[in-house]
Amino acid sequence: MSKRYYITTAIDYVNGAPHIGHAYEKVITDVIARAHVSLGEEVFYLTGLDEHGQKVQNSAVELGKSAQEYCDELAGTWKSFAERLNLANADFVRTTSPPHKKVVRAVLEKLEKSGHFYREKYSGSYSIKQEQFLTDQDREEDGSFGPQWGEVIELEEENYNFKMGAHQQWLIDYIESNPDFVQPDYRRNEVLGFLKNNELGDLCSSRPKGRLSWGIPFPFDPEYVTYVWFDALTNYISIPAAHGDRGVLEGLGLNPEEFENASDETELWPADVHVIGKDILRFHAVYWPIMLKAMGLPLPKQVLVHGFWQKDGEKISKATGNTIDPIEVIDEWGIDAFRYYVVRELDIGPDGNWTDEGFASRYNNLANGIGNLVNRSLAMTNRYREGVIAEPNDDLREVSEQTVAETTGHLRNNRLQAGLYSINKLIDEANSYIDRTAPFKLAKDPGEAGRVGEILYNLVEVARILGVLLWPYVPGTSEKIYEQLGIEGAPDRLALAVWGGVKGGHHVGKPSPLFPRKDLGDKAKK
Ligand code: MSP
Repeated sequence: MSKRYYITTAIDYVNGAPHIGHAYEKVITDVIARAHVSLGEEVFYLTGLDEHGQKVQNSAVELGKSAQEYCDELAGTWKSFAERLNLANADFVRTTSPPHKKVVRAVLEKLEKSGHFYREKYSGSYSIKQEQFLTDQDREEDGSFGPQWGEVIELEEENYNFKMGAHQQWLIDYIESNPDFVQPDYRRNEVLGFLKNNELGDLCSSRPKGRLSWGIPFPFDPEYVTYVWFDALTNYISIPAAHGDRGVLEGLGLNPEEFENASDETELWPADVHVIGKDILRFHAVYWPIMLKAMGLPLPKQVLVHGFWQKDGEKISKATGNTIDPIEVIDEWGIDAFRYYVVRELDIGPDGNWTDEGFASRYNNLANGIGNLVNRSLAMTNRYREGVIAEPNDDLREVSEQTVAETTGHLRNNRLQAGLYSINKLIDEANSYIDRTAPFKLAKDPGEAGRVGEILYNLVEVARILGVLLWPYVPGTSEKIYEQLGIEGAPDRLALAVWGGVKGGHHVGKPSPLFPRKDLGDKAKK
């Protein structure tokens, strides 16, 4: 039994429609997950849905449905969204599933027994939209609560509070001595700034059933349900528990036999990376580590924070119609063009800006770059050598080896965009090698047949290596490259990117465009 590389996304609110932000987060997480597969590790990628809370309850009531019925219907849409994105996720968590609920109850019981909760009557400002009490720290400079909180009401309520304040100094010390825990650095500084300049209050962790019934009942007080964030964050350990992770099960006093899918082989926790957006940083870098510390479980190794997408320089908003429908884009351009665009356009960290022109232009880069290279290499091998590869030649060996080393380094460090820069350099190099060596001219002279064979060896071998390097990013395209090259198996191991993999005498297949040219005239007419 050995620990798998365990990576997660945030879980999406079930009542929203899948949008570009969700798609982006899932794709970058998938690229990291596949990079680790390619590095030869066993990987467990988890994504899924956050299904409890006031908003879901309200939407269900409006439609005259039970909350569970409403969630079940929407879950199908979200699962097929994950499929369209070609994610290699190992499981799909739903917070209404029985194993998740069981683990949340176990967490609450453990924390109650070890004295981490107390009951208190509280009156204050409450954001209905974010389902939380607000403090003065949440006010704008003019004293008001900003639009992110929606309608804010005054509320008096008795609830269970989780003693969070006591852990403030411990968390500061932890983040300071573990610089990789929150990345990029400016997000780490943001968390440290918050922790050093504010007194951390305790966390209201329950909601009275009378006000909100759509939640996980408190195991030791049936009059309350669990605060939705307490419930949602626990997904990161509930799925490991459900798969039989001993560390989590023993830590929470749970019996593996209570879980249908539990297997002895699965060791997941602690997570290697939680990938999240910048708006939910505090939940992941403050609340979650403190919850885990109180439970006696190890902390995740990293919280990796990405930025927000805008469209045409403006906030994405359904109300103004400034949106991008990822499914529409995928239907029109294909999933790999979509995956390529979002990763190439936006590094993990800053905010990004979607433009349709930018998308079309990156599509053309794909068609003219890797598309053209594979097409020309195979067409010429078929035309001049009846598809048969000559003995190995090393013209492009050095540049290819450099690229493999560079890209591997970038992938190990989650520098996904930089990895694509390296790969694109090799694509350009190989395309200019074609122009420079001009095999299409040499082929007219029978005396140059040997040289043509050498050149085509280099091109086919580079195309093969590019197929391997691109696999984490655009797995479907990589698989097509391997297929057209006539190579068996999947390009899913970086260990395959060693020069000389294609042997003399190998037969390549026929080319077919990887990124067919778009009739832009037609598009303009639309
Ligand atoms: N349910 C909570 C997360 C619970 S995790 C234990 C939630 N859901 S969400 O549906 O609102 O957001 C899911 C993810 O999408 C978050 O990481 C969020 O940052 C991300 N994005 C939402 N809009 C986004 C953009 N416009 N751009 C990029 N990512 C964005 O929060």
